[in-house]
Amino acid sequence: VTVDEVGVAMLGYSFMGKAHTRALLALRHLDVPLRPKLVSISGRNAEAVERVRETWGWGAAVTDWREQVADERVGLFDNGGPNAVHVEPTIAAARAGKHVVCEKPLGLTADESHRMWQEAERAGVRHLCGFNYRFVPAVRLARELIEAGELGDVVHFRSRYLQSWGWEADPTLWRFDRAQAGSGALGDLGSHIIDLARYLVGEIRAVSSAVRTIVPGREVDDHFVATVEFENGIVGTLEASRLARGRINSNAFEVNGSKGSLAFDVERLNELEVADTRSFRRVLVTEPYHPFMRYWWPPGHIVGWGDTFTHELGHMLEAIAGEHEVAPHGATFEDGYRCSEVAEAILRSAESGRREEVTYR
Ligand SMILES: NC(=O)c1ccc[n+]([C@@H]2O[C@H](COP(=O)([O-])OP(=O)(O)OC[C@H]3O[C@@H](n4cnc5c(N)ncnc54)[C@H](O)[C@@H]3O)[C@@H](O)[C@H]2O)c1
Repeated sequence: VTVDEVGVAMLGYSFMGKAHTRALLALRHLDVPLRPKLVSISGRNAEAVERVRETWGWGAAVTDWREQVADERVGLFDNGGPNAVHVEPTIAAARAGKHVVCEKPLGLTADESHRMWQEAERAGVRHLCGFNYRFVPAVRLARELIEAGELGDVVHFRSRYLQSWGWEADPTLWRFDRAQAGSGALGDLGSHIIDLARYLVGEIRAVSSAVRTIVPGREVDDHFVATVEFENGIVGTLEASRLARGRINSNAFEVNGSKGSLAFDVERLNELEVADTRSFRRVLVTEPYHPFMRYWWPPGHIVGWGDTFTHELGHMLEAIAGEHEVAPHGATFEDGYRCSEVAEAILRSAESGRREEVTYR
């Protein structure tokens, strides 16, 4: 059987550039309906892009993403640039008829995110926003268990995404520059847990929050907490920080229902804690029938954080091939937009000191 190829262009060659490239390379050898071909990678520094082109095996190194958008060989444009570089290249790529993947948070503002969603829809291309935690096997299993009613009536959701690198971090990083990043812990970490809250429990209709910048001289927030009210009446909590000493990359949530509970932490990525009406037990999510394990190994041979990008981009390739839609298991640009509205409501509530409704266009 011959498998068709899709040409990919990647913007950004650092953290996400590496994570996405590694996933694309793996997918060339896995059972997917379209094989990704690494056409070109871009960044501003010609020498640095050329170095990664050679190391990672991209066809070309370019210093202007417009060249990638104009390239006939490219069918999928993958944006792993800083937040401020999401809107323009992604819309240009969609207008040129390329399917689009864009890292989170989708835009700098809800307005930008809304435009990106509308433009991708208008262009009729597939669109996926990089909420990769949906593609952790244990997280997908959590969603399936909730959907199947295993927890009974869900009554609580609480989540927190904690890191600690913010204390000693280089102040010149784009992540601390409001114009480049939009916000701090909120957009960076909070966006992931807003998305997981929506994915696992449902749409958010109101928030009450506090947002704090703690390190002197910093333009963006280091920490936020929010109470969120879901449309289905459930109340939950979200918290994110870059200043939680001892927490390295702890993205954790717990869901409680009338018949049971679920708990998860990215730092124990292969495990889902499941409770019945009594106590928790640990489920190692590596059985062949568990989500995404068809790609990998015999039971007990665990997967890693980087594999979530393989699952995510594999899902996108299947969607491009027409096997299924990006939604509901992949985050679309609509999900990216809805996340932006919740994030903006969290900022509004912190400023007003009041509960704020979330409105969607
Ligand atoms: N899904 C996740 O788990 C996850 C994790 C980290 C970052 N992210 C998101 O991915 C995006 C990139 O973050 P990162 O950690 O890879 O950042 P990074 O700083 O490691 O890399 C950014 C890349 O973009 C390039 N770049 C910067 N300005 C550019 C411009 N004007 N034109 C072209 N290229 C430019 C840089 O050279 C660099 O290669 C951000 O939106 C971030 O929020 C997602």
